[in-house]
Amino acid sequence: MREVEHPGGAHPATLILGIGELTTNAPEAVGVDPVDDPTGVVRDAALLLDGGRVAWVGPESACADGVEQALGRAPDRVVAVEGRAVLPGFVDSHTHLVFDGDRTAEFEARMAGRPYAAGGIRATVAATRAASDDALRANLRKHVDEALTQGTTTLEVKSGYGLSVADEERAVRLAAEVTDEVTFLGAHVVPPECADDPDAYVDLVVGDMLAACAPHARWVDVFCETGAFTPEQSQRVLEAGAAAGLGVRLHASQLGPGEGVRLAVDLGAAAVDHCTYLSDDDVAALAGSWSSDGASRPAAHGTVATLLPGVEFSTRQPYPDARRLLDAGAVVALASDCNPGSSYTSSMPLMVALAVREMGMTVPEAVWAASAGGAAALRREDVGHLAPGARADAVVLDAPSRTHLAYRPGVPLVHAVWQGGRQV
Ligand code: NIG
Ligand code: FE
Repeated sequence: MREVEHPGGAHPATLILGIGELTTNAPEAVGVDPVDDPTGVVRDAALLLDGGRVAWVGPESACADGVEQALGRAPDRVVAVEGRAVLPGFVDSHTHLVFDGDRTAEFEARMAGRPYAAGGIRATVAATRAASDDALRANLRKHVDEALTQGTTTLEVKSGYGLSVADEERAVRLAAEVTDEVTFLGAHVVPPECADDPDAYVDLVVGDMLAACAPHARWVDVFCETGAFTPEQSQRVLEAGAAAGLGVRLHASQLGPGEGVRLAVDLGAAAVDHCTYLSDDDVAALAGSWSSDGASRPAAHGTVATLLPGVEFSTRQPYPDARRLLDAGAVVALASDCNPGSSYTSSMPLMVALAVREMGMTVPEAVWAASAGGAAALRREDVGHLAPGARADAVVLDAPSRTHLAYRPGVPLVHAVWQGGRQV
């Protein structure tokens, strides 16, 4: 990467030149035929970042005029990426990063043949409750930085390893220090002290716990699964969260089939995550959520099916059938589910590789799902694409094409990252 630098302010206007393959996810805005490719690829492209936003995108041959019109002066910094691929920063819409403790032994036991069960969550709850604020904060920041260096520029973080009013409040408060996309997951599992009376725990979640957590959160989530919460309990929590002003998302159909996916669609959830065991009705409901239903449901507010292949990789479960969802017309996102139990990886490049190799997704579908799909799952219009006005979040790969994310799995291909117009 070659650079020419001129004095700039806090947000230097940066012109990135020599982009061999630019994924925009914005075919209309950048004038690429959308029928062929929703990822809107521009070859031999240039990208201008200014004031934390994308200012201009297009073929490098048109960039002198583009920069003159968008900026009206020379950029502060010119970076030549010498034919590398550039794509929008990854949007990881599902992580559990407020935790302490280690579950290496559980992983080892699983690799020796023991099945994954939701109960392992309680081991992390005990360690998290015992940790200081500073220890949790340091662990959280370490994982956020780890994700950022792998190209994740927008990250959702859930609570769910506190499971008391004070511990859940602490978790969402710490999460809000690192992201705007904070999810209250008090209904992750029933904590040991409430094992005899799960409904009393749900009363606590929808009462004092929600009241303490809602001011720090944007979303409410529930683990709707055998061994966690029933559909009725889940509905109570999600409706209470929505009444407190939170958006709805949920974990469902991870370990077996259930009613969670239809509950998500009925409640107008932004996303339902895992989706490993789906009935035909579930698939139809997810696809149907994107067709407009008059004034009551704008088409743009369907329910995204968020697939978390790190879980299947780390638990030896069957992968979700992305092809079936895409062919039915559902909107699919990919996320890491980074957590110390079921998927201890923050790597979105790995999710792309697994989706392509194991789940029947093409490379463009997987790259879109890991960026624009994640943005849809968070109902964000400013991230997940690179068009004028979008947040200036871009990833430069040390590769000529995004296909290398799947073609060269496990290789650290992220060469440079811009987040909000700043190189990190
Ligand atoms: O998304 N499914 C529920 N929660 C997490 C698991 C967390 C854990 O095992 O600690 C998940 O996979
Ligand atoms: Fe999860």
